Amino acid sequence: MPDNPYTPGQVPRILAGRTAEMRRIEDRLARVQSFGELGGPLLVFHAPRGIGKTSLLRAGQRRAIESGFVTAWVACSRQQPVLAEIAHKVGRALEQADAVPAGAAGHRWRGQLERLTVEVGLPGAKVQAELSRRETTAPPYAAIGVLEGLLHDAATAVRERGGAGLLLLLDELHTASADEMSVLLNTLQNLDGERTENPLAAVAAGLPVTPEALTRAATFGERSTFVPLDVLNEADARAVLTAPAEAAGVSWTDGALTAIVTEARGYPYLLQLIGSSTWDAARPAAGDRLGLPDVRRGLPAAREQLTAMHRARWGAATPTEQSFLAAMAAAGTDNVTRAAIAAGMGRDSRSISAPRERLIEKGVIEPVGHGLVRFTLPGFGAFVRSLDGA
Ligand SMILES: Nc1ncnc2c1ncn2[C@@H]1O[C@H](COP(=O)(O)OP(=O)(O)OP(=O)(O)O)[C@@H](O)[C@H]1O
Ligand SMILES: [Mg+2]
Repeated sequence: MPDNPYTPGQVPRILAGRTAEMRRIEDRLARVQSFGELGGPLLVFHAPRGIGKTSLLRAGQRRAIESGFVTAWVACSRQQPVLAEIAHKVGRALEQADAVPAGAAGHRWRGQLERLTVEVGLPGAKVQAELSRRETTAPPYAAIGVLEGLLHDAATAVRERGGAGLLLLLDELHTASADEMSVLLNTLQNLDGERTENPLAAVAAGLPVTPEALTRAATFGERSTFVPLDVLNEADARAVLTAPAEAAGVSWTDGALTAIVTEARGYPYLLQLIGSSTWDAARPAAGDRLGLPDVRRGLPAAREQLTAMHRARWGAATPTEQSFLAAMAAAGTDNVTRAAIAAGMGRDSRSISAPRERLIEKGVIEPVGHGLVRFTLPGFGAFVRSLDGA
C-alpha cells in the first residue's frame, strides 16, 4: 500500500501552481547564472500563514541547486540575531559545497564571518551596543560593510569554482528587527552598486506586514520587489490533491475533489490536511479511486487537527488580544469593521490599534482593506464562539 503522499504542515512533494511566482525566482537566478551579476533587488513574497510562502521558497531553492547555485537558507526569528544567522548559514553552505575561499581570500573571509557573528550576533557586543544607543536613523555602517564583504566573497568563491552563484533565502523576514532589515537592504543596495561583481540573488518571504516594515527600515526599501501570494485557484487546488496521488497510482472522483476544494477555499494547508485525512481513512492501493465517502470518513480527523491549531492560536494570544478576537468572532461576519470590534471590546476605536497590529503580525488575522480584518484560518471564528465565556 503506498504511503500517504500529503504533507499538511510540511514542504509539499509537488508544488501545485505558482508558475508566475516561480518564474520570478527563475528570472533572478538566470541573471546570476548567465551574467555572473547580482540578480536584482530583494524579491519578497508576502502572504498570511499557510498560503505557501515556505513551500515556494523551498521549490526555488531546489531549482537553484539544480542550476548549480550554492544556497543559504535562513529562517529568521526574533529569538536569534538575523545577521549573525545569515553569516552562519552562508558559511555552512559554502563549507558543504566545498567552496570556502582558498588562501588569503579564505583567511579574510573567515575573519569577516567571525566579525559579523561577533559584532551583530552577541548581546553586549560592539555593534549591538551601538545599535541600541543610536538616536539617529543612520544605518549601522560597520555591520553593512562586513555583511557586504561576506556576501561578495562568498558569491565570487562559488563562481570561481564553477558554480552559478549564491542564493540567499530568507524565510519569516517579518521577524527581523528594523535595524537588521536596514543593514540587509543597505548591503544589497551597495552590492547593486557593483552589480557585475556580485553573482548572487536574495529571495525572501514573510507575513503581509513585511513590505511596510522593509519600507520603514530603509528609505529605498520600496525598491524591493513585493509579490503577494494568494490562495490557490480551483485548477491548482485540484492539482494539490491529484498530483501526489497520481504519482502513487491513485485517483480521485470528481465529486470528492469538488467537495474538498469547496471546503478548503484555495487554502493550501487545508487541501493537504483533508487530502491526508481522506487518504488515511481509505488507505488506498495503487489503482484505487478516492471518493466522497472516503472524504467524509476522514473529515473528523481533519477537523480535530484544525481545532488543535485554533486552540494553539487562542492560547498564544494575550488577554487583550483574546478580547479582540472574541469581539471579532461575535460579529459573526467574515470581514469585521474596526468599529464593531471596538464596540465589542467596550473601547474607543482608536485604542485597539496595538492588539490589531500584533494579531496581524502573528498571522491570526489579516487586513482586507478599508480597515476591515478577517481571520486567516477557516473556522477560527466558530471556534472562538464555542469557547466558554467568549
Ligand atoms: N503550491 C502548493 N502546492 C501544494 N501544497 C502546498 C502549496 N503551497 C503550500 N502547500 C501546503 O500548504 C501548507 C502550508 O504551506 P507553507 O508552510 O509553505 O505556508 P507558509 O505561507 O509558509 O505558512 P507560514 O506563514 O505558517 O509559515 C503545507 O502543508 C504545504 O505542504
Ligand atoms: Mg512558512
